[in-house]
Formats: sequence, structure tokens, C-alpha cells
Amino acid sequence: MNKFYITTPIYYVNDKPHLGHAYTTIAADVIARYYRQKDYDVLFVTGVDENAQKTVQAAMSAGKPVDEYTNDMADTWRTTWEKLGISNDQFIRTTSNEHKVAVYEIIKRVQDNNDIYKGTYKGFYCVGCESFIKEADLADGLCPDHKTKPEWLEEDNFFFKLSKYQQQLLDHIEAHPDFIQPLSRRHEIVSFIKQGLQDFSVSRSSQQWGIPWPDEPGQVVYVWFDALTNYLTATGFPDEDFHKFWPANLHLVGKDIIKFHCIYWPAMLISAGLPLPEQIFAHGFFTIDGQKISKSLGNAIDPLNLTNEFGIDTLRYYLFSEIPFGEDGEFNNQRFKTIYTTDLADDLGNLVQRVAVLINKHLDETIGDLPEPTINTDFYDQAFQNLKLPVALKGVWQEIRNLNVYLQEQKPWEKVSTDRTGFEHIIRQTVANLLLIANLLTPFLPDSAQKIKATFADGKVHSDIGLLFPKK
Ligand code: MSP
Repeated sequence: MNKFYITTPIYYVNDKPHLGHAYTTIAADVIARYYRQKDYDVLFVTGVDENAQKTVQAAMSAGKPVDEYTNDMADTWRTTWEKLGISNDQFIRTTSNEHKVAVYEIIKRVQDNNDIYKGTYKGFYCVGCESFIKEADLADGLCPDHKTKPEWLEEDNFFFKLSKYQQQLLDHIEAHPDFIQPLSRRHEIVSFIKQGLQDFSVSRSSQQWGIPWPDEPGQVVYVWFDALTNYLTATGFPDEDFHKFWPANLHLVGKDIIKFHCIYWPAMLISAGLPLPEQIFAHGFFTIDGQKISKSLGNAIDPLNLTNEFGIDTLRYYLFSEIPFGEDGEFNNQRFKTIYTTDLADDLGNLVQRVAVLINKHLDETIGDLPEPTINTDFYDQAFQNLKLPVALKGVWQEIRNLNVYLQEQKPWEKVSTDRTGFEHIIRQTVANLLLIANLLTPFLPDSAQKIKATFADGKVHSDIGLLFPKK
């Protein structure tokens, strides 16, 4: 049996999930469902990144002890994904004991390879990025991404010899064209590496919250070194059977965190003597009604608000039909409402309803033997191979529209009294195609696909299933 191991970033718990986080998690869910339907043994992992400095700050403003705060937030994230119907197999918390064991094993292996040394870090640290930042990269003294003033730090830390892996990383990227996708991100990483990699500090002494550095009181593990290791934790590492799922097939991330995933992480793995993931794919960022998603603008949409009103499948449909996967995009509230009516209720919902009514009325609810569907699905698998999710979804939608045109042209409701055999054939062909469409829709619109299958199950029409997309 083939396996497929897919991950999302583990998200910071300083705030609850917004639409941007839901985008990555739903994309991973679509891909995981695709491979499950293809009978792969799938491991789909998401989780939370709790050991950050910003967790401590958020707990303070919430007036809660940090561990109580992270327990509450981990619940919030976990239940949000449950309510959104996300099919993750695991939910990682970096405060768990299993994770600590994995982090200690990685540190041990990297130390055994002589890649950790003691040094003094002097420089700026941005809590927003949870990362050190070069003076040259500041804009008017502020972090260009977070527009906040970084902290000046001077502390004794452990360092990881990233610079040692510069050539090996370049060689790997060169030899594996799919390792970093899309191409624009690959170029970005290659040019970053060519500017020269610097060792980075992998422990912090000014902070108490985090995983204690082994045998070194007063130091905790740097949050990114800890967080990246979650991808191994989920496989059971260091238990030998971690090889069942490691290396990961796909780390899905946003474009903001590619440096950590495409440079730090592979270097850590090479140093620890572990195989590298097959692919890191970075999708773009989207704006909401033209504006960057931000807490201060108050436009950080809670995905549950959208799905409570329009259903989960509407959000899933919108995200993968309107936003090019891998590029930046835009979430438009008006458009979101429009596609519910035009695409979901009219194109798909009405089609299913019309066919069900015709069978009820003229075939005494019985469908009969189905012919082979007449849809060529090559486009679909090809699109998934290249993670062109909107190409796959739009291709299926074209088939839905074709089926509507077919009915419009064939007019079975007129043939019912003049050409009974013709009528029955049209209906059966439509149902056969609809059932194939339901399969193709399963990764994208799991609830609706299930309803279509249930409507035409066992050679009968089941009208009690109800409308797929009721009028708003
Ligand atoms: N904790 C780190 C990741 C550690 S992974 C080992 C982190 N967390 S985060 O909470 O800031 O999540 C960042 C991710 O959220 C992005 O990479 C992206 O997947 C998603 N997004 C956040 N805002 C987004 C948009 N506006 N648009 C699209 N995706 C967005 O970084």
C-alpha cells in the first residue's frame, strides 16, 4: 500500500484561527481526502506551536497562567478544525511529552554530528516572526512584516552550524526540481542561500517558557527548532516504525515561512542523518476585501462565522475556485455570497434536484442499470499531481455545466411520452455521470458529494436527502 504523509504548519496559539489558517488546513484536507480516495495510507497532521514567546505575552494579556492559556487555546484550535470537518489524523501539541522526546533525539543527533556549539548572540529579535532579524532587513528600525520594533538581545546561546550545509542544500534543490514549489519560491530560496547562510542560535536564555535545553539549566530550545521537529513527532520518532511515514510527502505552508521549511529544516535533517521531505509547497497570502488580514483592522474573519451561514462546502468551494493555489489572492465577501447561488445552488443543486424529480415522477423512483460515465478524468489526476487544486475543481465544474447543457438539449421531460427508451437512457446517463462527479467532488465538497451519492444510492432515488444548497 502506498503511503502519503501531509502536514500543515503548526499554528501559534496567541490568537484563535482566522480564514488564512483555515485556507492552509482546508487545502491539506482536500489533498488528504484525494489520496485516501485513491487508497493510499494517509497521515494528515496539524497542530499548535505553543512554546513561543508570543504565547507568554498573550497569556499575560488574557490574565491566565501560561499552561492554562495554552490548554484553552489548543482546545479552541482543535474544535475549530472539528467543526470545519477537517479530517486530520493527529493534532500535535508541542507541550506534549512525545514531542519533547522527539526534540531531544534531534538535538542529540545534531550534537553527535558536531553541529552545535556555544556562542554569544548579539542582535535583534522580532517576537512576531519569532526570529532573529538582520539590521539590514529592518525598515526604519521596524520589522518589515510586523511593523514592530525588534528587541535587542545579547545572550549566550547554542548555535547550529547552518553555514556548513549551504552547498548540500543547493545540490539537493538542484537535483530535486519538485522539492520546493511553486517555482517562484524555489528561486527565492536559491538566491537566499547563495547570499550566504549564517549559523543560527537554537536556544534562548532570556526565556523560561519552552522545552528546557538538555542538561543546560537556564536555556530553552529555540521555538522554530522545536516546532519544525513536530513533523517527526507525528510519525512516532524516534521509535523505529517512524519510517512508515517519514519522510513526509508534502509540507504545505504559507509563503511567509519558507525560509524555515526550505533551509533550516532540511539542514537540521541532514545533520541528524534523516531523509528529507519530498516536497515543500508554499501557497500565497490572501487579502480580505482588498486589505491584509490583521487583528488591528478587525477583518480577521472567523471561518466558523462563514460556515455557520453558508455551510462548510461553500467555503471550500470558494477557496479553491477563486484563489489560484500558490499565488496571492483575495477573499471577497460579496463574491462569496454570489457563488453560493450561481455555482452551488444553480449549477449543482438544481441539477441533482431536477434529475431526482424526473425519476420520481416517471420511473417510480427506480433508476435501473447505469451505463458507463462519459467523463474523461485525466485532467483531474494531472491537476492533483501538480497541486493545481483550482484546475481540478474547475474542471469538475465544467463537467457539471456540460451535464446541464446535455439535459437542456436532450429535453428528457419532452421525450417521456414520445420516446420512452430515449428518456430512460438520458436519465441513466445523467445519473452515471453525476455519481462520477460526486467522486471527483469528494475531496473538495465532502458533504455535498456524500449527499449526491445518497440521493441515488442502491438504484433508487432517495428524496428525503433534501436540497443540497437551499435558497438563501
Ligand atoms: N508557528 C509557525 C509555524 C511553525 S511550522 C513548524 C507559524 N504559525 S502561524 O500561526 O503564524 O501560521 C502561519 C501560517 O498561517 C502561514 O504560513 C499560512 O499557512 C497561514 N496564514 C496566515 N495568514 C494567512 C493569509 N492571510 N493567507 C493565507 N495563509 C495565511 O508561522
